[in-house]
Amino acid sequence: MKRTLGTCYYPEQWPSKMWTEDARRMVDAGLTWVRIGEFSWAKLEPTPGNYCWEWLDQAIQTLGDAGLKVVLGTPTATPPRWMLTRHPDMLAVDVEGRPRKFGSRRHYCFSHEPYQAECAKIVGLMAARYGANPYVAAWQTDNEYGCHDTTISYSDAARAAFQDWLALRYGSVDQLNVDWGNTFWSMDYGSFAEVDLPNLTVTEANPAHCLAFRRFSSDQVVAFNRRQVDLIRAQTDAPITHNYMGRITDFDHFAVGDDLDFASWDSYPLGFLEDRVGADAARQRAFARQGDPDFQALHHDLYRAVGKGRWWVMEQQPGPVNWAPYNPTPLPGMVRLWSWEAFAHGAEAVCYFRWRQAPVAQEQLHAGLLRPDSVDAGVMEELKQVTAELADASDVAPLQAPVAIIFDYDADFAWTVQPHGAGLSYFGLILDVYRGLRRLGLSVDILPASARDFAGYGLVMVPGMMAMADDLKAALGASDAQVVYGPRTGARNAEMGIPTPLPPAIPSLDVTVVAIESLRPDCPIPLTTGGHVINYRDVLEGGAEPVLHTATGEAVAMRDGKQTYLGGWLDGAALHIFLQDLCEKAGIATLDLPDGVRVRDTGTERFWFNYTDAAVTCHGRTIDAAGVVREAR
Ligand code: GAL
Repeated sequence: MKRTLGTCYYPEQWPSKMWTEDARRMVDAGLTWVRIGEFSWAKLEPTPGNYCWEWLDQAIQTLGDAGLKVVLGTPTATPPRWMLTRHPDMLAVDVEGRPRKFGSRRHYCFSHEPYQAECAKIVGLMAARYGANPYVAAWQTDNEYGCHDTTISYSDAARAAFQDWLALRYGSVDQLNVDWGNTFWSMDYGSFAEVDLPNLTVTEANPAHCLAFRRFSSDQVVAFNRRQVDLIRAQTDAPITHNYMGRITDFDHFAVGDDLDFASWDSYPLGFLEDRVGADAARQRAFARQGDPDFQALHHDLYRAVGKGRWWVMEQQPGPVNWAPYNPTPLPGMVRLWSWEAFAHGAEAVCYFRWRQAPVAQEQLHAGLLRPDSVDAGVMEELKQVTAELADASDVAPLQAPVAIIFDYDADFAWTVQPHGAGLSYFGLILDVYRGLRRLGLSVDILPASARDFAGYGLVMVPGMMAMADDLKAALGASDAQVVYGPRTGARNAEMGIPTPLPPAIPSLDVTVVAIESLRPDCPIPLTTGGHVINYRDVLEGGAEPVLHTATGEAVAMRDGKQTYLGGWLDGAALHIFLQDLCEKAGIATLDLPDGVRVRDTGTERFWFNYTDAAVTCHGRTIDAAGVVREAR
């Protein structure tokens, strides 16, 4: 598979007389793909049942005639205003019980059946009209499920659908009462119809109730997507994707991905830096014009797993965005670096958002490849460099990494329901572990909770996986890899109860978590090896060998053969030592990389990335500020 480039284009936002020249310039810039259509519902169906396809016919024809391949988006993220008149109760409702208004996008509730039917109608018509169109080479469903906090809705439609979902899952309300422990605080229900959504309760709602609602909400996204996929697939052989977002974890992307042909995601490294990475102010300042050196890479690896090996960046930040707390210009070279980083992690395509900056509306301050006056923006020079470099680059060449991390969306739901300490999250724990591995120069694979085959991995990390299936424990125990569980792995049963025997209950690893605690940010626990336990700690007992200790002699990690339970959330210094030692045991070669320098291997190349703003000499090679070094392997 060749590595290719593309852009996101909105023909409906520009006079049709501009389309031919735009298409010519896209091809000149070396672009292969153009994604269109995903916000165009009001132009396609200006009034209910009155369709206008001709402009889209012409746009696809113009782009295709110029030599571009079209990714056609379904327009369901932006229901037109008339939809609200027809279905006033289609709006998503926030946790405070307030309907989310029309006037931006993603205002629908996933559970609203009449809205789903409206979506099915327009998607079905689109698929019938363009399914066989030779220029439509891929499809995208909707746009960024879950973005703007839109997975979860506390609407009447959601309540009714949740009750049906509960009836299917639990069979009887008595079972639900037992599984949730509703005797506590006299919360027993007499029927499923009595079960409300877990918002606006006086104090916290039952965590089992909250977890069930999160699982339900995730399933609603899966079902919503599947309905579109079925309609599209009936009319075309072209591959279907969805463009996921960064650090949106409140639906199971693996479950959505099971219905799709490849994954894609929208990478805004500077947009994410303040709000989503969770870095302190000094780190944000250090990487203000580059983005966090691990955040994008983690998503590349995660979405490669979601796409079962096939994935794209559907939207790549090309300059300043408009929506972060601060919106600086990327350091010269960063757009090239981000592009190559995606390819190094196995991307088939990188598409820049957007072609031309819009002079109007919400994103008028968002950079594009062209300025609003159609003159090339400065980034075009970098894009041309990437295009030239791609001309003699090798194809996508996958390589199994030596290390894997299991990523479980259900664990993220459970941590969200019960973080146990302010600001603690599963994603934050995963990012820390991932960062620790990358500091050692390692390429990392992300695996879903359903993985059972660990052949070829020297080290498998399973941090924070709250509910862990017995057969996963067995498969990991039987593998040849060093396996690290914890902290908080196996801490709950499937219904959010504390299991007995007490966690983690891993066969042939004699460790028991006898107590837990969360830590104030200013109360880390020092370790004898250097570094600290931060955020969260499991207190361990058992016959396994203690291999990491607090300064006062308590066990923080215990080991039996190749299985280790790590009972603390380690800071960077402690994690570095701990992981280095494990890699040695597993026979995995490591590099000691300075912060901001990262390495990634493919089947044919080794890439070195310098996320810092100064040239770095590292392991015998000099990498420019914001530079990339590509070496044959
Ligand atoms: C993405 C979204 C695009 C556009 C972009 C701006 O999240 O999919 O439609 O809004 O952000 O950065």
